Amino acid sequence: MGAIDLSDIDFSHDYPQSLFAKIASDLVEQGYSIQLQALPMQMTQALYEQVTQLHEQEFSRAGIGRKDEFQQNQFIRRDEICWIDGSTATGQSWLDWTAQLQSYLNQRLFLGLFSFESHYAHYAPGDFYKCHFDAFRGQSNRVLTVVTYLNHNWQKDDGGQMVLYRHQGDVEGTQILPAMGTVAVFLSEEFPHEVLPAMRDRYSIAGWYRLNNSLSGRIDPPR
Ligand code: OGA
Ligand code: MN
Repeated sequence: MGAIDLSDIDFSHDYPQSLFAKIASDLVEQGYSIQLQALPMQMTQALYEQVTQLHEQEFSRAGIGRKDEFQQNQFIRRDEICWIDGSTATGQSWLDWTAQLQSYLNQRLFLGLFSFESHYAHYAPGDFYKCHFDAFRGQSNRVLTVVTYLNHNWQKDDGGQMVLYRHQGDVEGTQILPAMGTVAVFLSEEFPHEVLPAMRDRYSIAGWYRLNNSLSGRIDPPR
């Protein structure tokens, strides 16, 4: 008998169809969905432990734009990122959860989501990400963004809110506190958004579902 590790736990029991149903209906009605305490707590905790134990050298300073025109822009974003793969049980549990959401949304909304990629992000105190789109119409096959947060006891005064704008003229936006287990899903081409300066270390996962555009030739291939 070995120690219990995450691969022994069947997370699928924790995926409430009602959560995915709510996300789907929100996407239809408003193009985005914000769900508090959406991820199974055990998984959120494991992801939190993993991201906080990543070493400095595993993170790289985030860049803007495609790999071939990779540039670092201190004025636009300051976070550091680390891509997530299935080589650990914890990473795999997240990929399983996002795969379940993918197949649910494909069945319900015929979105044709084909692949998924995601990374951890660490914003040190003072870090931000200015207003941007995750995808531009016709230029990318990123269609749906998923962000989740891994921060215990996050307060308004801690800053670091993600602000989701309905369109480019929307000055107010919707503020999302980066609290443990909150999941934000939105259409990548529709919503400009930003991350306000964080006052303390802020951990998140940002991910994107892509369409399969291999037939039309890849303009913006996955990393
Ligand atoms: C991104 C992003 C939002 C967040 O990485 O593209 O917008 O709240 N992240 O971390
Ligand atoms: Mn973004």
